[in-house]
Amino acid sequence: MDYHQINTIFEKIPRPFAALYLPALQKNIHDIAKRAKNIPIRIASKSVRCQWVLDYTLKQNAQYQGLMTYHLEETLWLSEKGFDNLLLGYPYTFKNSFLPLIEYIKNGKNITFMADLPIHLEILNELGKKLNVKVPICLDLDMSTDFGFVWFGVKRSSIRTLEDLKLRIKHIQNLKNIDLKGIMGYEAQIAGLGEKQSDWIKKLAIPFLKSLSIKKLAERRKKMFDFIQNEGFQLTIVNGGGTGSIEKTIEETYINEVTVGSGLYSSGLFDMYKDFCHQPALFFGIEITRNPEPNIFTCSGGGYIASGSIGIEKQPKVFLPKDLKFLKDEGFGEVQTPFYSKIPLNIGDCVFLRHAKAGELCERFNFVYVFDDEKIIEQVPTYRGEGKCFV
Ligand SMILES: Cc1ncc(COP(=O)(O)O)c(C=O)c1O
Repeated sequence: MDYHQINTIFEKIPRPFAALYLPALQKNIHDIAKRAKNIPIRIASKSVRCQWVLDYTLKQNAQYQGLMTYHLEETLWLSEKGFDNLLLGYPYTFKNSFLPLIEYIKNGKNITFMADLPIHLEILNELGKKLNVKVPICLDLDMSTDFGFVWFGVKRSSIRTLEDLKLRIKHIQNLKNIDLKGIMGYEAQIAGLGEKQSDWIKKLAIPFLKSLSIKKLAERRKKMFDFIQNEGFQLTIVNGGGTGSIEKTIEETYINEVTVGSGLYSSGLFDMYKDFCHQPALFFGIEITRNPEPNIFTCSGGGYIASGSIGIEKQPKVFLPKDLKFLKDEGFGEVQTPFYSKIPLNIGDCVFLRHAKAGELCERFNFVYVFDDEKIIEQVPTYRGEGKCFV
């Protein structure tokens, strides 16, 4: 996409604005499905946060089946909107919010809740008993690797070893109102950590640790899967992965679905992987309002920093114009962001940026303008634009 072309398309749109380049989304939907071979893909809704995009992706390619949601209220809202096959990816404990969802399950909706601690199991069992339902659950299995000198992974699930799993399965076998339907292992250190690091130590260490960790976690996951099968559970969900690990995750042949979200927009952090490259699809445009010295162009807004550990990679990335550089001392500001450009730019034109993380940009805007090479096709609401803010 050429800078002049994109500026012309958005010349009459109030700034700042979010914009989705539809040809890139279409290509990403197709390329991600190809990477997953014929394995079904569950969309991580947290990395999308726009109903239109969720719906579009599910309709565009039949390999996309169902959603991994991120909040109880969100899951309820999406159920009411007609979405089905929902796996709530994270455990919750607030009983009242489960009740309407369990009613939906009673009426035939396919909704599964995540659990790992005994208390999660107890709460779901108690609610199932109250409403006379067997509540479908999925166990979150920890996929981190403890290298001793470094914990390679995330700290989420309490089910780390086969022994932990055995205890949890025993517990489940004693609870009559839950139904173990799935297991999920999110290998964050593979899926969410790119190799192209700016720090040279990380650049060397990460690919090496990743290759060791993949082997270890695959062995552990296989043992856990076999144990559950041998105990007589029929698992319909064996979920793993994320955008950054599709190829590796599906090498484990018993995995029957992968979760993908961020690759659809291909946000800034997803430029850091060596084995795939998706198309930047979601941008935000901010206006050049000032020109304090010859090569400095200052825009209004811009400071949308991504969550997680603090680092320069959490800042937005310049998409267009190409050679524009942000100023390290000021960074991306709350209401003003200066850039350096060798080429003169026009006051009133826009600078196009990408958020480091995919779904978070949608928390900043009520609408996304869907556009192609010539024009704006449609204006669609984000979750926020529909009055929804879940986390
Ligand atoms: C449980 C779980 N599965 C999968 C993913 C992968 O999502 P994405 O493709 O957006 O990286 C995530 C992301 O954090 C996650 O938390």
